Amino acid sequence: MPYSPVNSLQPDWSFPAAVLPYSAEWVEQAEALAAQLQLPCLPVQTPDQLEASQQVLWVHPQGLAIQQGGRKAPGPVRVDFVEGALAHRRLYGGGAGQQIAKAIGVKGQRCPQVLDATAGLGRDAFVLAALGCQVQMLERHPVVLALLQDGLQRAQQDPEVAPITARMQLLQAHAYDYMHTQAQQGAPAPQVIYLDPMFPHTEKSAEVKKDMKAFRTLVGADRDADALLAVALAWQPCRVVVKRPRKAPCLAGQPPSLSLEGKSGRFDVYALRSLDSAELP
Ligand SMILES: C[S@@+](CC[C@H](N)C(=O)[O-])C[C@H]1O[C@@H](n2cnc3c(N)ncnc32)[C@H](O)[C@@H]1O
Repeated sequence: MPYSPVNSLQPDWSFPAAVLPYSAEWVEQAEALAAQLQLPCLPVQTPDQLEASQQVLWVHPQGLAIQQGGRKAPGPVRVDFVEGALAHRRLYGGGAGQQIAKAIGVKGQRCPQVLDATAGLGRDAFVLAALGCQVQMLERHPVVLALLQDGLQRAQQDPEVAPITARMQLLQAHAYDYMHTQAQQGAPAPQVIYLDPMFPHTEKSAEVKKDMKAFRTLVGADRDADALLAVALAWQPCRVVVKRPRKAPCLAGQPPSLSLEGKSGRFDVYALRSLDSAELP
């Protein structure tokens, strides 16, 4: 397949205005992060003292977070593999009966090896790793990457969660370039490639949880999403699974082999060959 430079389609993303330390103890870490991300570092203050329009990266004892400024701002957005929604899902989430598990092909002892090419906050990757899958995650946004790295580091301190996150590897990469290069070099394809690009922001705003708006502002619409499907299929994994909002058109207008309806969306499965016949790379 000829290489098309989709990265000339610049991602529609944004960056927080600054890094904010929680207290004097966190200033050194905040300054290092600010230098790494080439952002200014603010003096210690609470986010409600900031302009409502200002989004900051908050270096906080409970973990790195994106936080909106102003007094009525929604809560921080951080990666938390140990507590909250993901802990609940790990303990009571329905295991291999979940639609994502069926779409990926988790069944009995079979736990496919997955490339999650659009890692985001790592929630889907964590669900799959909790089911036993090895998950390689790709993320291109440097701030999302920092949130993920921080979440993975904190998870290492938890004896129950650490064995799960040990199955998750994170790489900063543009998914198109990564998959294209790997395929060109003859690297064996992963059994499953999972894509969950950000859908353009057309849903009614009430449907998007307030705190997640901050994440959507950061990431923008993933305008190269259609190209990801083509390059993923060209690498010839056993299957490519695409997460879509319930009523969204198929990625690249390409009909899948089957669709599984989930609670918050659907999973389009592009099956190329049986998972059972696949040799593990
Ligand atoms: C909707 S979020 C994924 C959410 C994720 N499935 C989860 O469970 O948290 C999409 C993420 O994919 C990343 N992304 C989109 N296109 C990408 C690409 N071509 N290469 C690498 N990362 C990409 C975006 O930066 C964003 O963080």
